[in-house]
Amino acid sequence: MKFFIDTANLDQIREAAALGVLDGVTTNPSLMAKEGITGRNNILKHYVDICNLTDGDVSAEVIATDFKKIIAEGEELADLHEQIVVKVPMIRDGVKALKYFSDKGIRTNCTLVFSAGQALLAAKAGASYVSPFIGRLDDISTDGLNLISEIRQIYDNYEFETEILAASIRHTMHVIDCAKLGADVMTGPLSAIMGLLNHPLTDIGLEKFLADYKKGN
Ligand code: G3P
Repeated sequence: MKFFIDTANLDQIREAAALGVLDGVTTNPSLMAKEGITGRNNILKHYVDICNLTDGDVSAEVIATDFKKIIAEGEELADLHEQIVVKVPMIRDGVKALKYFSDKGIRTNCTLVFSAGQALLAAKAGASYVSPFIGRLDDISTDGLNLISEIRQIYDNYEFETEILAASIRHTMHVIDCAKLGADVMTGPLSAIMGLLNHPLTDIGLEKFLADYKKGN
């Protein structure tokens, strides 16, 4: 399973990369705004800064919603850096754009996916990644993890190469559950990744090992 961090915060990206387990970064317009990155030039520069902190894929989202503008914006983003993956919303013109980018060899991440049907369409259009938002489904009392399981089954049935990028991960158990269900990638906050480290028996065990060592030395 690949680990992506879902943030535009450079310090958090550095921290995840320093742990040695970071495979990429996803961003979205809300995450960019949260870091105070505004204005087209600043946003484009920030994507390059992020690419320079990781060897992996960096998802950069288009703002346009009509086909021609999505294409123009996506090509501009893809030209920024070889690690850029163009993030395209699951809308009619977005699906057309996924097919266009796929034919041109530009990698894509289809975002705002909330149903198995949308995921099937994204795969048919040649998306490199599909991003089902599991946390936001949980927020409305729907089973986000069930969507991962449905998409896994459909993609395996037809050997689609689109990677399932479990997004809107909110906590560590989401990461573990997505791994059990066979998601190819998860993207979440730094806290969800770091939470994988924790177990009270590890802390108790280490404390005892160190205390016993101290007794004999
Ligand atoms: O980047 C897309 C997705 O991961 C957003 O997550 O927590 O805003 O639902 P969240």
